[in-house]
Amino acid sequence: MGRAAFGLAVGCAVVSCAIAAVLVRKGVERRAKWSRVVGVLREFEEGCSTSGHRLRQVVDAMAVEMHAGLASEGGSKLKMLLTFVDNLPNGNEKGLYYALDLGGTHFRVLRVHLKGTKQKILDHKVEKQAIPPHLLTGTSEELFGFIALTLKRFIEKEGDDFELQPVSRRDLGFTFSFPVRQTSVSSGFLIKWTKGFAIEDMVGKDVAECLQSARTMLGLDVRVAALINDSAGTLALGHYHDEDTMVAVIIGTGTNACYIERADAIIKCQGLISNSGGMVINMEWGNFWSSHLPRTPYDVDLDAESPNPYDQGFEKMISGMYLGDIVRRVILRMAKEADLFGEVGKSLSEPFTLRTPLMCAMHQDESSDLREVARIMEETLEVSNIPLRVRRLVVRVCDAVTRRAARLAAAGIVGILKKIGRDGKGGSSSNSSEGVRRTVVAIEGGLYENYSLFREYMRDALEEILGEEMSQNVVLRLSQDGSGLGAALLAAAVSSSSSLSSLV
Ligand code: BGC
Repeated sequence: MGRAAFGLAVGCAVVSCAIAAVLVRKGVERRAKWSRVVGVLREFEEGCSTSGHRLRQVVDAMAVEMHAGLASEGGSKLKMLLTFVDNLPNGNEKGLYYALDLGGTHFRVLRVHLKGTKQKILDHKVEKQAIPPHLLTGTSEELFGFIALTLKRFIEKEGDDFELQPVSRRDLGFTFSFPVRQTSVSSGFLIKWTKGFAIEDMVGKDVAECLQSARTMLGLDVRVAALINDSAGTLALGHYHDEDTMVAVIIGTGTNACYIERADAIIKCQGLISNSGGMVINMEWGNFWSSHLPRTPYDVDLDAESPNPYDQGFEKMISGMYLGDIVRRVILRMAKEADLFGEVGKSLSEPFTLRTPLMCAMHQDESSDLREVARIMEETLEVSNIPLRVRRLVVRVCDAVTRRAARLAAAGIVGILKKIGRDGKGGSSSNSSEGVRRTVVAIEGGLYENYSLFREYMRDALEEILGEEMSQNVVLRLSQDGSGLGAALLAAAVSSSSSLSSLV
């Protein structure tokens, strides 16, 4: 071999070695990055873990906090608010009632025709309107002006298609799904806003009065017969259909629960007048807090950047307003950790770009190549060409967030059952001679209704905590439109107290 050929061969060998070295280094780097991404996921899954033991701790904490909230005002982060609903509809209600439903992204007006005994709800008409976003942070006058105007237009559209009895005034139930300190069944002061509403001048004002002044300005002859929380409306509708309904839970944009409590257990209001010996308590469980809740750094950041830091801790782990954003935060961290999608775009860094219904669609993507995951990531988070293994990780993040939410909600429910002695652990009701009593929990809200995996996880957790046999006595029943129909029913029940049914 000549010198030139030898030199060429050596040169080629050196270049090949260099290329091989680069490839090896790249491979090592890729593997290291991938293991960092997997590490982020594992750490998150561990942080979200809800073992049976932990869930039982949450159950106990919920029951303890319920006692504390009932013992004194401010005794717990659980407000345990009186609703003054001490009787629930029983099917004898008759007449035409209206309902207003405000609490999420939409506002609804309903007209409900009740036919009395056994005939239950005869028919109803609903109108739904998106709330213009500027009203969420404007003034109370603007918000209530909008509500009263929508009601006025609804009433004006009423033709001869229904018989309006010769009444001079319309009675309505107003579902206002925020924490309200009630002063009667038809009045109460807003304590604070949740779910992204922030109308400063409204805090501390009487909600029914705000509506009353707006409707007076419009010349509407309507009376707020009942001012209620959506959870109370759900309980009313649930009880109307099935008298074993003792608890109602909302799992939608926000989350909350209410239940029927014995009047003598409401220590902070001794001497409270209750016709039935009981009262519906609006727990405002979205604000529940316990050191046993599995909180991750992503939850801490979400809370700190929210309009209501240190508030609604349980809600921020459970409800539809937040779940998508927790997932987005984990994906963002993975992307940054390992340069997963090249430069991180604006959408992935921006809070609330990944809404919960989209997260749910990714989680429930059953295609073999997870193309729905890829489509949603591309359209909403602006990241494309995502390898299949990354799509799989995204699904696991959705799974961890949803599992934790559903299992915590189940633990919350068992906490309530424990408080009222219906968890099969020797409370007064469960020890009755007839054996363990059947308890129905009415559940409403878009997240619960539209997310089958959420419902599955919740049912499984309930069974895990209560045991298979006991859990047979607890019925989780999907309720539809308790926040609307329930308000009309309660307005009817309050207006004609002869139709009331005893609570305890
Ligand atoms: C509110 C509750 C409401 C729940 C569900 C929470 O943010 O504080 O009053 O019941 O959302 O709508």
